[in-house]
Parts: sequence; C-alpha cells; structure tokens
Amino acid sequence: MLASPEAAKFVLVTQAHLFKPTYPKSKERLLGPSALFYHQGDYHMRMRKLVQGSLSLDIIRNLVPHIEGLAVSATDSWATGQVIDTFHEMKKLSFEVGKLAIFGNLEAHYKEELKRNYTIVDRGYNSFPTIIPGTPYKKALLARKRLRVILGDIICERREKRLLGKDLLDCMLNSKDEKGEVLTDDQIADNILGVLFAAQDTTASVMTWIVKYLHDDPKLLESVKVILESLRMATIISFAFREAVVDVEYKGYLIPKGWKVMPLFRNIHHNPEFFADPQKFDLSRFEVAPKPNTFMPFGSGVHACPGNELAKLEMLVMMHHLVTKLKWEVVGSQSEIQYSPFPVPLHGLPAKFWIQSA
Ligand code: HEM
Repeated sequence: MLASPEAAKFVLVTQAHLFKPTYPKSKERLLGPSALFYHQGDYHMRMRKLVQGSLSLDIIRNLVPHIEGLAVSATDSWATGQVIDTFHEMKKLSFEVGKLAIFGNLEAHYKEELKRNYTIVDRGYNSFPTIIPGTPYKKALLARKRLRVILGDIICERREKRLLGKDLLDCMLNSKDEKGEVLTDDQIADNILGVLFAAQDTTASVMTWIVKYLHDDPKLLESVKVILESLRMATIISFAFREAVVDVEYKGYLIPKGWKVMPLFRNIHHNPEFFADPQKFDLSRFEVAPKPNTFMPFGSGVHACPGNELAKLEMLVMMHHLVTKLKWEVVGSQSEIQYSPFPVPLHGLPAKFWIQSA
C-alpha cells in the first residue's frame, strides 16, 4: 500500500507499464472481459482514445440541455416533502447521463430493458460470487446475458443506419485499427457496460455527499470549489488496484511480481502535510492549486478517468438546481457512513425536499 504522492506517481504514471490493473474474475465476467479498464497496451490505448474522444469537452457541451432536462425532472420529482433515498435517486440520474453519453438518443423500449437488466447486474456485482440459481450473483450473470442480446440488437440497428455521430457507440462502430480491423460486437458491448458502470455509482456518491455538505452548511456557494472539496473529503475511489507484472524495486523495497499494489488516494487526500486540518470541509484550500500528485480523485496516468469532465458537468448542473430551487432536511443519522462499496452517508442519505418559496 502506497500512501505518498511520489509512490502513486511511480505506479500510475512513470512506471505504469510495470503494473497492470487487476480485478476479481467474478467482476470481470459481469461487465465483460473486453472493458477497457482491465487492459494495458495497444487495445487499452485504442479504446481509451475512443472513450476520451466521445467524452471530451467539445462533445459533452452539446449534452448540457439534455443533462439540464434530466436534472430538472429529477429535482421536480423529489420536491414532495416525502422521504427519499438520495443516493438511489442520484444513481438514476447518473445512469441516464451515462446512457446519453453512450447512445445519444435511444428508443424508450431499449432504455427500459437496459435499465431493468442493468439494475440486476448492479445488485449482484458486489455479492458473493456463487453460481447457485437464485443467488444475486447468478441472477446478475443471467441479466448480463440478456444485456448482451439487447446491446447486440442496438449495435445491429445502429450499424445499418451508418451514422457518423459523435456519441460513444457511433465512435466505436466507426473505429478501425491500423490494419483496418473494426471492433467486434463483444468488445463494443463490454465497453458500453464498462462505461455505464464506471459512470454510475461514482458520480452518484459524490452528488450525495454534495447534498450532505450543502445541508451541513447552506452558505457554501462557490460551486466549483464545493465539488473539488467534496471529491477530496469523500474520496469515493479510496485507492486504485494494480499488480506488479515483474519484480519491481522502489526506493530500496522489492515489490515481487504478482503482488497487489494499491496507491491510496484517501490517505494522500487526508494527509495534513498536504491538506491542513484534513477532516474539515474547507473551500479556501482550493484557492491555490494542490501540490503535484496530492489531489487525484480521478486517478492519474494511463488509466485516469476519461469521464471526469462529464462527471463535473453533471455535478455542476445538479448543484445549480439543488441550491436555486430546493431546500432539504436530512432524516435520521447525520454522521454515519456505509460502504456500498463506495462510501456514502448511511442508508443513502434519506432526506425530504421542498421547492424554495420565493
Ligand atoms: C465523480 C465521478 C467519478 C469519479 C470520482 C471517477 C474516478 C475514477 C478513477 C479514480 C479512475 C481510475 C481508476 C484506476 O486508475 O484504476 C477512473 C477510471 C475510469 N472512469 Fe471514472 N470517475 C467518475 C466518473 C466517471 C464517468 C461519468 C465516466 C464515464 C462516463 C467514467 C469512466 C471511467 C472509465 C471508462 C475509467 C477507466 C479508464 C481506463 O482504465 O483507462 N468515470 N474513474
């Protein structure tokens, strides 16, 4: 476990080729082995360029009105004074935004089918991986199979239309490598599920923390700094998973081949040497830029998050509607945390929302 900025840079950036990403096989099976975050080298670079391209600022600025529409209908639906599970609601929103970035416009019946089956995959993802019928993991595997069929239909339809669109699906369909090879349907489907997965709980957890921090101090109005400080405080991706592909020496220590290596973002973000009084939510710390490699909510190096601009955009739009339109009250525990597996306030932060009176 590596808790220094230099060591994180060594593993993730300068010597990244000596460390491969590693996830349990049971999880790889659910999202699909061709999803980019399981890979290194040429295939990873190719997929990464496609994902990064379709999530670049130039492309996602066209999504603003759509994200705005989703945020408006979400916040309208909460403003009833009934208790809602904030995290659960945020998950719905981030799933819709993920779908938008991947497919652009998608027919309602496909959207429904994707949502229904993805929810089952999501439920099984962190459950014990037994393949006995009836267990959440087995149900998730079956739902994954159905998702592959649905995605196959969507891919087939889109291929026939020969669109030159800029959403991720069109970019993947139009991609050819240097030998002129196109991506297979399995590669496309695995990466669609991979991106949906990477986009959902991450963004939803941070948005839930933002609701909590704004509740604790409604005077926080500098939205960009609120997002940065929420990313630091909550550090929802506490660390990255890597494995040494050869024996590696770091500052006189041997990391034997095959050992797991974890750069610990949370420790770095909560180290008083880099962030004074680290447990305090303090926007003023972002008046100056953090020291190099001390602030990595989106990771660093070859696997750094390609969705970070979309995530920030979504959080900004959401926050705008929260603070200009709603007021809210947290119900129950104000301080406990659950790990699901990302840290979120207990029970997803149950809260009541109302429209602000003028
Ligand atoms: C606040 C929200 C988010 C946070 C905190 C976050 C954080 C991260 C981090 C730390 C990594 C690096 C993991 C590693 O090095 O092992 C990562 C990778 C990734 N993220 Fe995000 N992410 C967020 C939102 C998103 C969104 C919205 C998308 C897509 C729409 C996305 C897509 C990805 C993908 C595809 C990767 C894998 C990249 C690769 O392996 O090359 N993320 N994310």
